[in-house]
Amino acid sequence: MPEAVPDPAAAQPVVTPLTTAALILVATIEPGGESSVREVLPDLAAFARSIDFRVPDAGLACVTGFGSNAWDRLFAGPRPSSLHPFQELHGARHHAPATPGDLLLHVRGERMDACYEWAARLLDRLGGAVTVVDETQGFRYFDHRDLLGFVDGTENPIGAGARTAALVGPAADPAFAGGSYVIVQKYLHDLASWNTLSTEEQERVIGRTKQDDVELPDDVKPPNSHVALNTLTAPDGTAREILRANMPFGSFEQGDFGTYFIGYAADPDVTEQMLRNMFLGNPPGTYDRILDFSTAVTGTLFYAPSADFFDAPPPSPALSGTESLSQPASAPVARITVPADARDGSLHIGSLQESAQ
Ligand code: HEM
Repeated sequence: MPEAVPDPAAAQPVVTPLTTAALILVATIEPGGESSVREVLPDLAAFARSIDFRVPDAGLACVTGFGSNAWDRLFAGPRPSSLHPFQELHGARHHAPATPGDLLLHVRGERMDACYEWAARLLDRLGGAVTVVDETQGFRYFDHRDLLGFVDGTENPIGAGARTAALVGPAADPAFAGGSYVIVQKYLHDLASWNTLSTEEQERVIGRTKQDDVELPDDVKPPNSHVALNTLTAPDGTAREILRANMPFGSFEQGDFGTYFIGYAADPDVTEQMLRNMFLGNPPGTYDRILDFSTAVTGTLFYAPSADFFDAPPPSPALSGTESLSQPASAPVARITVPADARDGSLHIGSLQESAQ
């Protein structure tokens, strides 16, 4: 018997339609900042309500997630069974880096001002307790296209299928049902190189037609196309799916143009299998050709608990005596740096520069 679909009322707004705007912030918690983070958690919903009531057309949807190391610094007791650090992947040609992140703030809506306001209130309360290490302002690009020109999001599951794909079910992990594992990666596109391909060749990279967004027939779709490598089937024949909330972003000043990948999953192994297919190849060596034109520069796994978790979070490990409040962040902070003179229109892939906190 299939597992009961998690009650959407108990979840954070993970299963929502794609919006015109999104603000995605990844932050690390400073040593000793844990109590400030814990204190603000019960107020997050109220921040959203006060914005939502005044600008209901904004359709504000805010999701907060915690990284694996942060979970142990913030909360005592049981932890989500599949929460672990993002698994870095080294393929023959391409690399999926793991980058630091204790908190994920995924703020979506029809108006960027509403997204900004929610994050501003939260970060104002947190003061120096956290450091934002990556910020992306995503926008809808025409009819849901990515900056490669292809419609992105078509085959996302919908309705009950979306909830089953994205939310932890009650049988899988009863204490953490209604939550979601979310993997985020920032991809920078080499648009100059991509635009040298003919439309037909680009379609063979993605596995769908560009103009009309129709999947290529199986006998035409190459095995190293993005769609072929990301279509997963369980041994019982059912589809293994995730819920994607990708957003295009771009900065003319920095020369960064890309896709911010956000994948929500009931089981992070589904997203991780997709990543293994993309970076290592399936069969090994048949890697995703999209990676020849798009480089992952960040990668972090978070668990976004159910909404009611925030009303009464588990006790602090400091109070329960299992951890020290001043335990330092276990990973260095990565910042994406781009040459200041990156104004010539070519794509400069930012290097990850580590600085110990
Ligand atoms: C550069 C980053 C990426 C871009 C530009 C991109 C773009 C696209 C596009 C255009 C499609 C076809 C339309 C659709 O069904 O949405 C697609 C499908 C899909 N992508 Fe991506 N994607 C990216 C990264 C990823 C990553 C990292 C994953 C998983 C870890 C992923 C998983 C999927 C899945 C599951 C599908 C649907 C496959 C199907 O069932 O047809 N994508 N993506």
